[in-house]
Amino acid sequence: MRTKSMRVIDNNLYVGNYSLVELADKYKTPLYVYDEVGIEEKIKIFSENFKSNKFTCEIIYASKAFLAPYLCKMLDAAGFGIDAVSCGDMHLINKSGFPMNRVILHGNNKSIEELEMAIDLEIEYIVVDSFAELVKLEELAKAKKKKVNTLFRINPGIHADTHAYIETSLLSSKFGESIHDDEILNKVMNIYLNSKYLHLDGFHSHIGSQINNPKSFVAEAKTMLNFIKRFETKYNYKMNTLNLGGGFGIKYTDSDKEIDLELILNEIVKSVEEGIARHGLSINKLMIEPGRALVGDSGFTLYKCGALKTTFSGKKYLFIDGGMSDNIRPALYQAKYTVEVANRIKDELTEEEEYENLLNFYDVVGKCCESGDIIALNVKLPEVKKNDTIVVYATGAYTYSMAMNYNGLTKGAVIFVKEDKIREVIRRESLDDLINTCNFEVE
Ligand code: LLP
Repeated sequence: MRTKSMRVIDNNLYVGNYSLVELADKYKTPLYVYDEVGIEEKIKIFSENFKSNKFTCEIIYASKAFLAPYLCKMLDAAGFGIDAVSCGDMHLINKSGFPMNRVILHGNNKSIEELEMAIDLEIEYIVVDSFAELVKLEELAKAKKKKVNTLFRINPGIHADTHAYIETSLLSSKFGESIHDDEILNKVMNIYLNSKYLHLDGFHSHIGSQINNPKSFVAEAKTMLNFIKRFETKYNYKMNTLNLGGGFGIKYTDSDKEIDLELILNEIVKSVEEGIARHGLSINKLMIEPGRALVGDSGFTLYKCGALKTTFSGKKYLFIDGGMSDNIRPALYQAKYTVEVANRIKDELTEEEEYENLLNFYDVVGKCCESGDIIALNVKLPEVKKNDTIVVYATGAYTYSMAMNYNGLTKGAVIFVKEDKIREVIRRESLDDLINTCNFEVE
């Protein structure tokens, strides 16, 4: 699970030219580190494999996975777009100088402020989630007398094999309008066909996250293309764009299946090309929205071991100086992670010691006042000592972006490392950052 430019020197892990211990000491822990070379490689894989000579292919990074101005710059240089979900996202993306005509807005309950900001910033698409939202958007566009380019989100009802909390396309999911709901889609089309301001450029679908099987995406593509054919015939309306969302998985542990991202991307493009030819469609643009797969496995978190404890029952705990506040995924989804001791990479116990220790199986847990504050259970490690640097791999997606200040913990810094360059893209939160929103004058 080590990242692209990691290597071992004298029992210590390095990323680029820096030892992880050195980085942890300098920037304090918990520290989120991105191996920039890893992200560059993923950008390359997506660019080289998601392309067609039949239509334009757009890769829209799902910024909910992780967002920072420096990443926006990297994505801009790569020609990618960005998917935002709130005023906060759009504000950051805009401030980073990213071209807003390559930004799209998602959300199942967009506020008036969010819709207005999206209209004012003239983003590429607002992805309309429901009939109710379409009504709201029509009113806003009319009031502003501004043309708005949209995609409409369809729930294709495809079962993807992943955790229930991140599956989005069951018939009971809260996102989009069902592919089977002719009545509501009729009402949707009625608005579009009579609107002076709203343009329907195509459909959007997204079937979930951390999906490893190319078949799920191919099924999604086929289902959407069949639907578009049926829809175009019924309404005599030509669709320009199809957005198939994100959801490409990454490897978190050795027992996870290998993921052939290139194959998945090639299969998607191929099935869309075939579908378009079969149905005689005029789709000119195919979009995807990867989040996790672009950044997840190039990021890792560093902690210091604050203390070790063996309970009366014999359980060994390794206490790290972070936990669910910087990585909620194990608590929320029973997510599994790979852990190593960055300064003891080659330490091995003698057979005798192993026997005496019954192997060193640690529960790696955080410092929050919750028993569920777990990073990884039953991890086999060499004998860990206080102040050792602990590395948790594949934490580049949905960790910093889901971090919180529970127990008054401040969020750690985020750094990007490439060879001898370290970029501190987000600084560590200060105690004052924590209390900035408090009003101390209230009597
Ligand atoms: N597009 C839409 C409309 C989405 O809702 C999502 C993720 C993506 C794209 C990107 O999916 P990705 O390529 O990253 O799988 N917090 C959860 C994941 C939630 C995903 C939400 N939507 C986790 O930590 O596993």
